[in-house]
Amino acid sequence: MAEDLLINQGSKEEKYLSIIPQIKGLLKGESDIIANLANISAALKEQFGWLWVGFYLLKNDELVLGPFQGPVACTRIRKGRGVCGTSWEQLKTMIVPDVEKFPGHIACSSLSKSEIVIPILSAGIFLGVLDVDSELLNDFDEVDERFLKEILEIVEETMQTEIHK
Ligand code: SME
Repeated sequence: MAEDLLINQGSKEEKYLSIIPQIKGLLKGESDIIANLANISAALKEQFGWLWVGFYLLKNDELVLGPFQGPVACTRIRKGRGVCGTSWEQLKTMIVPDVEKFPGHIACSSLSKSEIVIPILSAGIFLGVLDVDSELLNDFDEVDERFLKEILEIVEETMQTEIHK
């Protein structure tokens, strides 16, 4: 397939509706988890222009930095620490409208103002998180949660078999 993305300039919903089929195309026939998470990060970064988008993956009871796009980030996060570690502990999506008001937020970049973290679960097993940071306050809502979860569903089956090797 062609590797050029079509970038949509419409509403948030229109952007997701445009990029999701393209992500499905990128992942089709590819089972390598790192390749797939890398391309998802790149596609989302290119479409939305967020500050940081990427994955932390569970390894030996820590979240370890995985494929991402954006500024360099902290490499390891423990359970209950920061937004990512809280999402892991509570196994729920965290939408943080103002990161400075989130106790324990781990500031990888001073430019980050708001954040969404979604746990990746496959057959009830926690595998890691998808983390997105924005330079804008209050940039994420339930629309992002719904569509990002849809994107995660595309990779979950692959991750379950690949990630704990
Ligand atoms: N802010 C996150 C840490 C990861 S960086 O944002 C990429 C947190 O508090 O868990």
